[in-house]
Amino acid sequence: MNGDIRKFIFKDLQTVEGYIDPPDALVFLALLQAQNTHGLSGGVAEIGVFYGRSYFLYRKVCGDKEKILAIDLFDIDQSGGETVTQYDRFIENGERLGLPVDQDLVICGDSTQLRPTDITEKIGTTRFFSIDGGHMLHHVTSDSVLALDALAPHGIIAFDDTFNPAWPEVTVGVTDFLRERQDELATLCMTKYKTYVCRKEFHDFYCRVIDEAPDLMAFDHIKTDFLGSKAIRLHNPMARRMVYEMMVRSGMRSLSERVYR
Ligand SMILES: C[S@@+](CC[C@H](N)C(=O)[O-])C[C@H]1O[C@@H](n2cnc3c(N)ncnc32)[C@H](O)[C@@H]1O
Repeated sequence: MNGDIRKFIFKDLQTVEGYIDPPDALVFLALLQAQNTHGLSGGVAEIGVFYGRSYFLYRKVCGDKEKILAIDLFDIDQSGGETVTQYDRFIENGERLGLPVDQDLVICGDSTQLRPTDITEKIGTTRFFSIDGGHMLHHVTSDSVLALDALAPHGIIAFDDTFNPAWPEVTVGVTDFLRERQDELATLCMTKYKTYVCRKEFHDFYCRVIDEAPDLMAFDHIKTDFLGSKAIRLHNPMARRMVYEMMVRSGMRSLSERVYR
């Protein structure tokens, strides 16, 4: 297991306001490390950075030399006339964690207005593309096509909030997108919050990565049919989630890592 990075995930990353759940952080880790090991190169991009919780995980796993593109409206704290903006807090988090943001690789703006070349001119084609921006149908439709057009042949798209009843249009957008591209794309992994997709040629490879990753052994691996592919659904039992939440709330962040061994 990755002792140092796990400590980062369960302790340091939790100090950044945001949404990545530990199982997904561990999936990101397994997939990015497998790509590193097998020379599957390319940039990393995220639509919907918020304060950088996922972004700093990419930085930690991929290192300083990797090109990581952050795309966000960065307008959340401006509506109330705040003096410290969302963008400022993102930059401050990087400095505090010792992972400074490369500001040449930040796009402040509406992702639905971007063209694939806006991404590839900055970081080349992408090996990992996280979509976690606008959660309405038109956002998801546009962001999905953008991600696919900027994707390396071996690239992975991670969709957030798929099948979350709070965001039904994400579910519609992602399933429409995948159903229309069943000949090209396959789902490799599903968690409570995210759905991970790659080109069909790489499906077996990435499924093996998920199946064999030491950091994912804590989860039940359940084969699930989804739109023509066999995805691995990582089930995280309610009892574990409750223990984890109780530990975090009572200030036992460092120890909470043990719950996921
Ligand atoms: C749920 S948060 C992302 C959480 C983040 N991925 C994390 O790990 O904590 C959604 C983000 O999407 C951004 N967003 C919403 N609509 C957007 C759009 N059209 N273009 C770019 N970013 C957008 C918001 O500003 C917000 O920061």
